[in-house]
Amino acid sequence: MGTTFITGGNAGLGFEAAKCLAAKKQNLVLAGRNPSTVQKAASELHARFGVQVTTVQLDLSSLASVRSAAKDVHRLIAEGKIEHLDALLCNAGAQFRGPISYSKDGYEETFATNYLGHFLLVNLLLDCLTKHGRVVFTASGTHDPETMDGKMVGKAIEPNAFALANEGKQNKKASSAGVRYATSKLCTLLFCYELNRRLIKRGSNLASIAFDPGLIPETGLTRTAPAFAAWLLRTRGMKWLLQKLGVTIGSLAFSGNALARIAVDPEFTEISGQYLQSNLGRLTTSKSSKASYDEQKAVRLWEDAATLVKLQLTETAEILR
Ligand SMILES: NC(=O)c1ccc[n+]([C@@H]2O[C@H](COP(=O)([O-])OP(=O)(O)OC[C@H]3O[C@@H](n4cnc5c(N)ncnc54)[C@H](OP(=O)(O)O)[C@@H]3O)[C@@H](O)[C@H]2O)c1
Repeated sequence: MGTTFITGGNAGLGFEAAKCLAAKKQNLVLAGRNPSTVQKAASELHARFGVQVTTVQLDLSSLASVRSAAKDVHRLIAEGKIEHLDALLCNAGAQFRGPISYSKDGYEETFATNYLGHFLLVNLLLDCLTKHGRVVFTASGTHDPETMDGKMVGKAIEPNAFALANEGKQNKKASSAGVRYATSKLCTLLFCYELNRRLIKRGSNLASIAFDPGLIPETGLTRTAPAFAAWLLRTRGMKWLLQKLGVTIGSLAFSGNALARIAVDPEFTEISGQYLQSNLGRLTTSKSSKASYDEQKAVRLWEDAATLVKLQLTETAEILR
């Protein structure tokens, strides 16, 4: 029995993955912003699978909340209430349609939630992993403008952390919600690959892996979309059309199980630095966008993100100092 920490494990893809992990007898740490929904998911998982499920309060759009959640995890390990983590799943994510909004720290909310929150969390929690632990990032095919997934939402823009954090300020026109989402996922991939390079340089056995679950309209991701568009996406006819157009198509059951497998199954021990995609019931290693492999941009993004989250050397996991 090991332990997996998961963000967004109370709903959608994350909850499906949590069920599969619990079925594999993994203990779980569910981290989420709404204590009652997270507790409800935890109670269901414990009752159904008999594993230990611990909950941690975490709002990824608040840097203070990320720091407090990381402290809780360190304390729970120190007190022997949970074990070191086999896997850290950076899975939570959201799209923000409608008027542009900003996090408590004043950063554009898509970038703050999907990228900055996880960037800080990983920096603070890496020491909590077991020697061969895995960090798995839930990415999205939308980050790649050359694919149909990317064309559907709009082309990801330059991964400039300061510009992305301040999108739409000073009366400047903001990018569309789709472009902000795709760009946050490009940043996620740049982070995943840069983390892998840093881990290798330091002789670490930890793994950093990216996973695109494919389009799954049944989750809550479309909650800010117009009701008609959300309904249309779930129809058989639209799924058929999107598949014909070449969109990456996932499903809750297959993609959730795939995420759980990547997190802990022995067959995925040697895939650090890779990008896996779930498409039409198959899980394959794929190439992400050209921009996602730009090492200079990845280093710059990391350094700028560290400035934005005010990352201190003393709080950073030892392996990354
Ligand atoms: N569904 C798709 O078509 C698709 C395709 C590609 C990639 N993805 C990615 O898959 C991941 C899971 O999304 P999903 O499709 O399962 O959507 P979902 O059903 O909406 O689940 C999203 C999860 O993220 C959590 N979350 C959102 N904002 C948060 C915050 N500020 N702090 C902490 N937790 C937060 C949500 O918590 P609450 O319950 O509190 O809202 C929820 O548990 C995301 O990274 C998404 O970008 C999805």
